[in-house]
Amino acid sequence: MSQQFTRKHITNTELLSMKTRGEKIVSLTAYDASFAHLLDKAGVDIILVGDSLGMVIQGQTSTIPVTIEEMAYHSKMVSRGIERALLVTDMPFMSYPNPRKAVESAAILMQQGHAHMVKLEGGQKILNSVEHIVNQGIPVCGHLGLLPQSVNQLGGYKVQGKEEEEANVMIEDAKCLQQAGASAIVVECVPAALAATMTATINIPIIGIGAGVDCDGQVLVSYDMLDITFGKRPKFSKNFMSEAANISDAVSAYVKAVKNKTFPANEHTF
Ligand code: KIV
Repeated sequence: MSQQFTRKHITNTELLSMKTRGEKIVSLTAYDASFAHLLDKAGVDIILVGDSLGMVIQGQTSTIPVTIEEMAYHSKMVSRGIERALLVTDMPFMSYPNPRKAVESAAILMQQGHAHMVKLEGGQKILNSVEHIVNQGIPVCGHLGLLPQSVNQLGGYKVQGKEEEEANVMIEDAKCLQQAGASAIVVECVPAALAATMTATINIPIIGIGAGVDCDGQVLVSYDMLDITFGKRPKFSKNFMSEAANISDAVSAYVKAVKNKTFPANEHTF
């Protein structure tokens, strides 16, 4: 059997087992092969090709201008650096306005970008698209809370789910995504108590970013935690470079901190 067929990466069912046995899932973003290789070697479980590349790679002010071709390109580059990690690739703005287009876009990320799973922003409003993608055998990761692709509708990058009604809608959204066949959900910028409730209520892994320590796993934008920023680092991130000799050490420190639940601390939490 060729190397291609024998190569084994983390799967969606392994993520589920990690949730069941209480082992924290570690995720970081990458946009090229070299960084992906470094993260993979350091033990990062999920490498996310985030549409945050619009900001950190392209220098834009939001994720909105990022195209499906750009996502497929960066995903393909990242796939060349990975042996063990699960490769999740973001579906960019307007690549899933209806189920048909959503399936076409997901197929591009799987076939050209070599993604193992695709990530979409939203809850009940995008459920049809999620179902159609899952029905084609493509694993899906949901994304709730702060939805960067809807930043203009949300009125800025703000903590979501502070009001009870909003929190209840988010829990319902998570249940619907699970029901539609999603394999995991990223929850961004929500109060820690809400993320903890979602983690306890939902059977699929909840991966937090600015959502407290009780989530099943954590994800950060790698450039933020390596202190490569244009401006202010978000409150929920941490500079892992400050006590590290090099980038590999900083990533290993992050992996360890997530696994032993020392990151995120209270100061990174809403
Ligand atoms: O685009 C991205 O990097 C993301 C993370 C913030 C989760 O979606």
